[in-house]
Amino acid sequence: MSAVELFEKQRAAGYNRFVETWIPNYRYFLNLLPKLLLPLKEQKLLVVGCGTGNEIEPLVSVHKNWDITGIDPSPEMIDQARQKLQPYSNVKLIEGVVQNLKDSERYGASTLLLVLHFLKDDGSKLELLQQIAQRLTPGAPLILLDITGDSQQIEGNLNVLRAMIPEDVTTEEIEQRINRIANELHHVSEPRLSELLVQAGFTSPLRFFQSAIYMGWLTTKAG
Ligand SMILES: C[S@@+](CC[C@H](N)C(=O)[O-])C[C@H]1O[C@@H](n2cnc3c(N)ncnc32)[C@H](O)[C@@H]1O
Repeated sequence: MSAVELFEKQRAAGYNRFVETWIPNYRYFLNLLPKLLLPLKEQKLLVVGCGTGNEIEPLVSVHKNWDITGIDPSPEMIDQARQKLQPYSNVKLIEGVVQNLKDSERYGASTLLLVLHFLKDDGSKLELLQQIAQRLTPGAPLILLDITGDSQQIEGNLNVLRAMIPEDVTTEEIEQRINRIANELHHVSEPRLSELLVQAGFTSPLRFFQSAIYMGWLTTKAG
């Protein structure tokens, strides 16, 4: 059984507001996706942990002929994605985890945004990455956005994050959130992320984006 971090109740309902506040340059990053995923040989895309479907929106509006599958274990998050993406017949949304997809299904690209740092590095991160790798065609790109860094980087970049948060957020809220990131989320260092990806069946990843603690990575299915 895959490890999951379920987004429920207020955490799900308030998610879109939350990301705009706490992930500086989130929209900028999402808008890069349609360009970064070109050219694709097979236009079948797997969006893992798609949440409310935020990353699917820019993809589907640019690549109208792509076949996009979004998967997420949280019913409340995927409901929001269903409402938002209802007009698009080429988007399929599934409540579940990657393991629930057919073993034989193959995709030409995948994204994993803001998911991996919720899973422990006790085999859970590796298992999710392996499940994704198994379903990609060789050479297929995987784009990740994740909190990454060793303890020194995280400490320094949390200070940078503090400075980037909108002014209407109270100091108390900022400190609570910073404390949760530092002590409760399961970020790993850049070399460890690279090691996990290679072990799962991907090439050594390229860091192409950074906004405080959030790093964007590009890798491809090896082989
Ligand atoms: C912070 S949200 C990110 C949503 C979206 N990717 C985005 O960038 O806005 C994390 C999502 O990961 C989902 N999730 C948690 N564990 C998961 C797992 N093992 N596999 C796939 N998704 C998972 C949660 O339900 C939640 O919707």
